Amino acid sequence: MSQLKLSKQGWSNQTVFILAAVGSAVGLGNIWKFPYITGENGGGAFVLVYLACVLLIGIPVLLSEIALGRAGGANPVQGMANLAHEHRANPLWFLLGLNGVLAGALILSFYTVIAGWGVAYFYESVKGVFQALTPDEVGAHFKTFLANPYELLFWHTVVSIFTVLVVAKGVKSGIERAISWMMPGLFLILLVLLGYAATTGYFAQSFSFLFSPDFSKLSWQAVLTAMGHAFFTLSIGLGTMMVYGSYISQKYSIVRAGMWIAFADTLVALMAGLVIFSIVFANGLEPGAGPGLLFQTLPIAFGQMGGGWFFGSLFFALVVMAALSSAISLIEPAVSWFEQNWGIQRLKAAWILGGLIWLIGIGSVLSFNDWSGVHFLGERNFFESVDFITANIMLPLGGLLMSIFVAWVFDDATRAEQIGLSPRMMKWYLLDLRWLAPVAILIVFATNLVAAESVWFMVAIALTAYAAYVLNAMRKAG
Ligand code: PHE
Repeated sequence: MSQLKLSKQGWSNQTVFILAAVGSAVGLGNIWKFPYITGENGGGAFVLVYLACVLLIGIPVLLSEIALGRAGGANPVQGMANLAHEHRANPLWFLLGLNGVLAGALILSFYTVIAGWGVAYFYESVKGVFQALTPDEVGAHFKTFLANPYELLFWHTVVSIFTVLVVAKGVKSGIERAISWMMPGLFLILLVLLGYAATTGYFAQSFSFLFSPDFSKLSWQAVLTAMGHAFFTLSIGLGTMMVYGSYISQKYSIVRAGMWIAFADTLVALMAGLVIFSIVFANGLEPGAGPGLLFQTLPIAFGQMGGGWFFGSLFFALVVMAALSSAISLIEPAVSWFEQNWGIQRLKAAWILGGLIWLIGIGSVLSFNDWSGVHFLGERNFFESVDFITANIMLPLGGLLMSIFVAWVFDDATRAEQIGLSPRMMKWYLLDLRWLAPVAILIVFATNLVAAESVWFMVAIALTAYAAYVLNAMRKAG
């Protein structure tokens, strides 16, 4: 691949970049996934491991990924090819970009399904459905909802079209403006809900569930999930932050942006967790209820609190918007790759990719009803398998390779220029990036690779790498 710096400077200013990156980071991962995986994995100890992963692995990888994006100056595939060329590294580094493009598409395939639940719940909140339901009925209502594949498919389609329409228009005009009021809005609503949670009488129990660690409840699988989630929630390891980084100018401070992203993201997750578990305990619900947790708890609060109709509708509207700003960032690596490397117009690229991703998403739609008993990876259904492969394997793998590139392939001058840390901080950062982060990721991997089902994953990686190799060879020949 020849060297092409293709990304034009996209963001109007640094604040907009931070907002867009926060918009990408804050999403279903914080409000939907974090609470339910915390519930499934027993609470406090899991949260502690997750926080450690954010701090020790997440933030350093985040800074590295943005730096790689800016230095590479293009979509993740081309950007990595550029960097490999510039630093005389193996040209196969472009595979790292490809891993990201694929992971983004796979995540989006179920992301739109879950965001679809959010849209459906927004619609029902506005209609006042939850005002008429008792806490028990809220749970039953959700089960009935999931049992109908056509309804899920409908909402999945709505979100997919919506995502494509925004991305097709270009990230800048639509997203920039929307995000600047959405994120503060979401935060405010969460504060109101936190106030409500305090009135349930179970706030303290919720707090101790989240923050008192009981390590006997922690398994290696949970550690892998925590690490995977740190990647997922910060939107790192797949190239989102790389593309977004490719749109920023040389004078922006990556460190400042990175701190804001990590701070906002973690705060929203913890707030959502506090709110949801207060309601869970107050109503005698099960914290380990799984993916439906958010949808079985919050409507109870909205059905009972003063102004519940208003806040409920607003809350689900914001969930949808938070999801949308993440959805866009999930498809952006692929769209920019199609646009920059294959000469496909953004509009067309967005529709083609959106269509493919929608198709894969049908597997996740069915995972909650007709295919709920069909196992793909080990005991996992389709949705669980895609979630596992992306969050627990592809993203950490991507993050591992990104840290290796910045830590070992970049020279000191490039690193200093891109990351811009003080010499003392740089020493710590490098130490972390060179030893702690990769070794931690590898250990967690190694422990989990022992599981037989990972054989399939290895086969999949090998096939993907081979396909990429052939594709690249064909392009060179043609
Ligand atoms: N960070 C997003 C969330 O928490 C999901 C996401 C992952 C978005 C990776 C982009 C890239 O919902």
